[in-house]
Amino acid sequence: MKRLLLTISLCMPFALHAELSSKIAWTPETLKHVKTADATNGKVLAEACKSCHGDQGQGMPAETQEDETIPAIPAIAGQLATYTYKQLRDYFNDSRTDSSMAMLAKTLSDQDAADLAAWFASLPTPQNKAAGKVAERAEKMVAQGDGKRILPPCSVCHGNRGQGEKMDIPALAGQHAGYFVSALMAYKSGERHNDVYGRMRLIAQQLSDEEIKELANYYQQLK
Ligand code: HEC
Ligand code: HEC
Repeated sequence: MKRLLLTISLCMPFALHAELSSKIAWTPETLKHVKTADATNGKVLAEACKSCHGDQGQGMPAETQEDETIPAIPAIAGQLATYTYKQLRDYFNDSRTDSSMAMLAKTLSDQDAADLAAWFASLPTPQNKAAGKVAERAEKMVAQGDGKRILPPCSVCHGNRGQGEKMDIPALAGQHAGYFVSALMAYKSGERHNDVYGRMRLIAQQLSDEEIKELANYYQQLK
């Protein structure tokens, strides 16, 4: 009974959130819409993304200047089209907030979002190097998880090579560590809450800041 109550109380906040976390549902129609999108039109629209995401969707590492830190811009090349589409629509619907992206995403139609997603999915995944040694603890978390904290291995969802999985699970291989850290910190604080069923929030809340940095470094060098 005690265990049951614990399970219910753990699931409650996320169950309540689940309905609101995203308006994108993977119906056969939505899947077909993304699958049959026009990458050629996406390429034309992508002119508007170059100034931040780079000419090949490779993103930008975080840069530290004298006083201020310019945040890392995510790589979006080689990403699953379904994931990119969902994020663009989440920004459009205010399910995910970011001052740079929200304004732009609101100018994109549903078709534009699908076309852009198809274009970026067709570009090669960026390759990056690790910043220093890859921590063993991160490799273990990815491959085995941590039974004590009921943390599943990252690879069961994100794939053995960080390649992502069907629909909404993003590829992580080659992602800039600076962006990776900011994404996990945003799930951890709840500032980012567009993950359906709160899966990533639940995981991020259990990771220490140090572990998050190590995982970011691990995924950045993955090819
Ligand atoms: C002014 C700079 C800027 C421009 C222009 C821009 N982006 Fe972004 N983009 C960002 C930043 C910064 C983030 C990270 C925001 C966050 O953490 O939510 C981001 C995030 C994203 C994400 C989420 C990536 C992920 O891994 O979850 C997608 C998808 C995306 N942008 C697509 C686009 C597309 C497509 C365009 C062009 C139509 C574009 N962006 C133009 C700055 C920009
Ligand atoms: C139960 C499946 C599952 C597991 C296990 C999982 N993830 Fe995720 N992850 C997801 C989903 C689904 C999303 C996208 C949610 C959304 O739409 O925002 C995501 C998103 C992310 C993102 C944001 C990527 C981006 O481009 O913005 C990062 C970083 C991430 N996960 C890292 C991890 C790490 C590190 C682990 C292991 C400690 C892990 N994930 C385990 C399902 C999972």
